[in-house]
This record gives sequence, structure tokens and C-alpha cells, in this order.
Amino acid sequence: MKLNLEGKSALVAASSKGLGFACADALAGESANITICARGEDALAKAVSKLTSSHPGVLVASRQADLGTAEGVESVVDAAVQTYGKIDILVTNVGGPPRGPFSAFDDDAWASAVEVTIMPVVRLIRACLPHMPDGGAIVNIQSSAVKEPIPDLLLSNTLRPAILGMSKTLSRELGKRNIRINTVAPGSFDTDRIHMLIRKRAEENGITEAEEEKNLAARAALGRIGKPSELGSLVAFLASDAAGYITGQTIFCDGGMTAFSF
Ligand SMILES: NC(=O)c1ccc[n+]([C@@H]2O[C@H](COP(=O)([O-])OP(=O)(O)OC[C@H]3O[C@@H](n4cnc5c(N)ncnc54)[C@H](OP(=O)(O)O)[C@@H]3O)[C@@H](O)[C@H]2O)c1
Repeated sequence: MKLNLEGKSALVAASSKGLGFACADALAGESANITICARGEDALAKAVSKLTSSHPGVLVASRQADLGTAEGVESVVDAAVQTYGKIDILVTNVGGPPRGPFSAFDDDAWASAVEVTIMPVVRLIRACLPHMPDGGAIVNIQSSAVKEPIPDLLLSNTLRPAILGMSKTLSRELGKRNIRINTVAPGSFDTDRIHMLIRKRAEENGITEAEEEKNLAARAALGRIGKPSELGSLVAFLASDAAGYITGQTIFCDGGMTAFSF
């Protein structure tokens, strides 16, 4: 199947590494021009160079920015609009809130988790929509925790489902302009973040990282952790006209990890 994204402008948030980078790579593989962003300058420069060398002919813009601030979001959207004049595809992605038990979080910690988990998605969508032609697509990267809470990720389990409520509601408004909005819910994927979680859990459980990783992999029906490119290809599909009748949905990409029939 050809997804035919040539001439499209795709903004992928939080994308110098991990799942965001894999989505940018998949979209560039379908010939979309890309805007990426992150806080760290070096990884961002490396990501630009990887994308341009892997996808000759594709344009890649980047902006160093913190999506946890309103200014950061505006700056990234400005970079895409200044470079391409429009944003056909928006992939929202954020770093994720800290883990910990209920007792660890006071009012300020909750407010700050909302600021870094929900508000970047709200602000990105709000800032991109005036520049998104009819027929555009939004894909949110969230987590399988939206359906099956993960024991030590209280803030994530609580806040991420809010994005589903917003997206479902917004799909009705945006449908009038043939703009689609969907959410992907990843299980465990091989990124820096998952290895950081594996390290911490291994320490707490008194086992080796290799054992912890094996346990995590065993939770999936496919018995392994996902490759980021496997999420990237789903996101590229949802961003394309091949998914033209899919909107307001949450699609799990978890190797069969979550224990629900639908
Ligand atoms: N990997 C998994 O298995 C998995 C599963 C379910 C859900 N998720 C969620 O998916 C998201 C991405 O996870 P990942 O595994 O790809 O993480 P990762 O490998 O740590 O990559 C995160 C990327 O986002 C950027 N970033 C983080 N915070 C940012 C901010 N405030 N402003 C701008 N850029 C920011 C990072 O660059 P800088 O640090 O330089 O800014 C980096 O490029 C997270 O919300 C995570 O919870 C991941």
C-alpha cells in the first residue's frame, strides 16, 4: 500500500528519539516533509541528520523547544509554518509524567503533571488547527495505560484518558472539515524511556535488568517488546488518506499485551 504523503507537512512533537523519532522516520519514508522538536540540542541535530540521510529529497525542519511550556509549543508550530506554510499532519507526543505512589504527589505535582501531559496536546492542536488544511490528520501518541492502568504510573494512568475524551469530542467538530483525529496506545517499545523504567523496576524488584525486560516482554501475546518502527508505521497509516474513514478512535499497538477482547 502506498500512503502517498508527498507534499504534506508533518509536525511530530517530542521527536529527537524514541517513538516520536520513529513516527517522523515513518512519515519521511512516505515522502512527507517533517518538523521535529525536543529540548536537547545534540540529539535533535543527530535526528535531523539521520532523517535527511535516510530520506533524500525530504525536507526536515527542527526547533529546540520545551513542550511543557506554552512558548515552546508556539515556537515549534511557528517553525513548521514558517518552513512549509501549513501543517497537514500533527503527531502529538509528550515526555510523560513522573512515576510514583499517590502519597508522593501534592497539589503542585498534580498541576505540573497536567501541564506536561495534557496541556502540550491541547496547545499543539489549538496552535496547528488554523494552519491545517481541510483533510488533515492528527494522531496522538498516548499509552496502553488509557485502558489498563500500569501499577506504578499513577499520574499517567489518571491523566492520559483525558486525551481520549478530548479527541472523541473534537472528532465531531473537526469532521466538518474532514480533519481526522485518532490516538495510538502503545504497549512496551524499545526506547530510552522504557529502558529507564526497566532499570528502576529491576532495582526495586531486586532482579537484573535482563530479567525485568524478559518479564515485560512476556506480558505481550507476541512475547517481545515492540520496535519503535512498528508504531511509526501505524501512525503513518492513520495520518494518510488510506485511513480516510477512521476518526475518533483509539488503536492499541501492544503486541497483544492488554487483556481485553476489544
Ligand atoms: N516506550 C514505550 O514503551 C512507551 C509505551 C507507552 C507510552 N509511551 C509514551 O510515549 C511517549 C514517548 O516515549 P518514548 O519511549 O519515545 O520516550 P524517549 O525515548 O525518552 O523519547 C522522548 C522524546 O521526547 C522528547 N521530549 C521529552 N520531553 C519533552 C519536552 N518537554 N519538550 C520537547 N521534547 C520532549 C525527548 O527529547 P528531550 O529529552 O531532549 O526533550 C525525546 O526526543 C512518552 O509519553 C511515554 O510515556 C512510551
